[in-house]
Amino acid sequence: MGLKEYLRINRQRAFLVLFLITLTQATTTVYTYLTSPELNAISQGNFVLFIEMIGVQFIIGQICNSSFNIASVQNTKQTQNLFHNVRQKIVHHYYQKPDKVSEMENHLGNDLQMIQTSYYDVYFYFACDLIYVVFTIGTLFTFHWILVAYSLLITLLAIAVPRLLEKYTNKATEQVSSKNARFLNTIANWFDGLEELRRYKNKAILKKKIANSSNDLEQSEYRRDKTLIYVELVAAIFDVAGRVGVPVIAGILFFNHQVSLGAILTAGYFANGIFYSVKSCVTKYAQLKSTRTLRNRLAELQKMSSEKNHDSIDEIATIEVKDLSVEYSQGEQISYPDFTIHRGEKILLTGDSGTGKSTLFKTMLGQIEPTSGVVIYRNQAGKVIKPDLNQIGYLAQDLTMFDATILENITMFDQQLNDQVKSVVEGNAFSADVRRLKNGLNTQLKVKQDLLSGGQRQKVVLMRALIHKKTLLYLDEATSAIDREATTKILRNLVGTKNTVLMIAHNLSTDQKKLFDREIHLEGK
Ligand SMILES: Nc1ncnc2c1ncn2[C@@H]1O[C@H](COP(=O)(O)OP(=O)(O)O)[C@@H](O)[C@H]1O
Ligand SMILES: [Mg+2]
Repeated sequence: MGLKEYLRINRQRAFLVLFLITLTQATTTVYTYLTSPELNAISQGNFVLFIEMIGVQFIIGQICNSSFNIASVQNTKQTQNLFHNVRQKIVHHYYQKPDKVSEMENHLGNDLQMIQTSYYDVYFYFACDLIYVVFTIGTLFTFHWILVAYSLLITLLAIAVPRLLEKYTNKATEQVSSKNARFLNTIANWFDGLEELRRYKNKAILKKKIANSSNDLEQSEYRRDKTLIYVELVAAIFDVAGRVGVPVIAGILFFNHQVSLGAILTAGYFANGIFYSVKSCVTKYAQLKSTRTLRNRLAELQKMSSEKNHDSIDEIATIEVKDLSVEYSQGEQISYPDFTIHRGEKILLTGDSGTGKSTLFKTMLGQIEPTSGVVIYRNQAGKVIKPDLNQIGYLAQDLTMFDATILENITMFDQQLNDQVKSVVEGNAFSADVRRLKNGLNTQLKVKQDLLSGGQRQKVVLMRALIHKKTLLYLDEATSAIDREATTKILRNLVGTKNTVLMIAHNLSTDQKKLFDREIHLEGK
């Protein structure tokens, strides 16, 4: 993310901004320059010329102000336009590769804010200053080349210095961002469990965790400011050398009859302008560079991950689990028996809790990398295929519901499926539940409110998978909260389909177990 993107979002507007900035600085330079003939007019006693000059100065001053204000508004418009675009792409990234919510919030909010204030806004003023310096140096030429040579020398020195300090400022900014991410993360992690903390009355721990993380953030902000201030102090040395040096040189030139009286004062103004601008350019340059890591990271996130060519999950004919074992970073090793599942089979996966049933699903879905062994998907011809594992009808132990109606939660907003809802509702023992609700299937759900019971939610998510014709289903305790009778009905419905079903359950009756083709039992250690 940088200038290129800024230009690309709307080239015409970008050039308008550049043009207006240039106009502003040209008029500022002329405005200041007019002081010289004004003073010469006074020293020559030409009052009319003096007044005329003042009049011209007034008009130029107005043009300068207006063009600057328009430039500034157009610049804001351009950056906001760009950010809107960036946000869309970042959301797209997280859609494809879900990650921590706090991380996404940080990128969409704080990071862009930081880039606005520490990059694009700074660039705007940086450009203003730089153009002003160019104009001013050009004008100084009309007085005497020595003034220009001296100004350039100081300018070069002022530009060289921050390059040496770049490393420190960069690191400091990056630290602020990472501390901020950690802070948001802490909030997210601890607030998820707020209910539970209240239940056990541990406000102290919540306050402590948040305070620690907030303190880290505060420290890193402080360090960043300190680093930037050092850079500013160094830049200020050149500023003073420039401000004092130019009028002194102009004075010497005047006494040698090489410049006019007006030139001494005007050169002094210009010197002030140049060195103020150079000083601020230097500081801004440091600030601009300090956002580089952050900008690169956001640029990474915006790269559309190319949609890979996947085989359809409907092509899966066999699933083979071989020599599979998984190890969590701090946990013990879980080893699985070898097994092969054929299309259409209905398999029950059992084992004591903690034996690794859920982990097996996550590994088969490619969410967890195994430490050894493989999960091989083959087609009818026995060829190894790469299906899009995200398309498998997976019902995790913790279900996902949306702020929408029950109907929409089943159809996932695909209105073409509305006609089929009735039959899935009946097939999955949900009719009685619907009758009990005043608005039936049109009842609006709130994710944060438990309007539906655990069992009802399980039914909704199961119906969601079935209505979308998922031919391969991994069901993790998908009926654990549903009563026995309804479970039997749901299982009958499920085994009556052609789908391949792999279901984890630990509380089924003998009759219910008999509905499956076979059982795979995981042994604990
Ligand atoms: N994200 C995780 N990080 C570390 N250990 C985990 C994680 N998830 C599960 N485990 C551990 O792996 C083992 C198997 O867990 P799991 O697959 O959920 O078992 P099951 O579903 O059979 O009850 C357990 O000992 C559990 O503590
Ligand atoms: Mg489990």
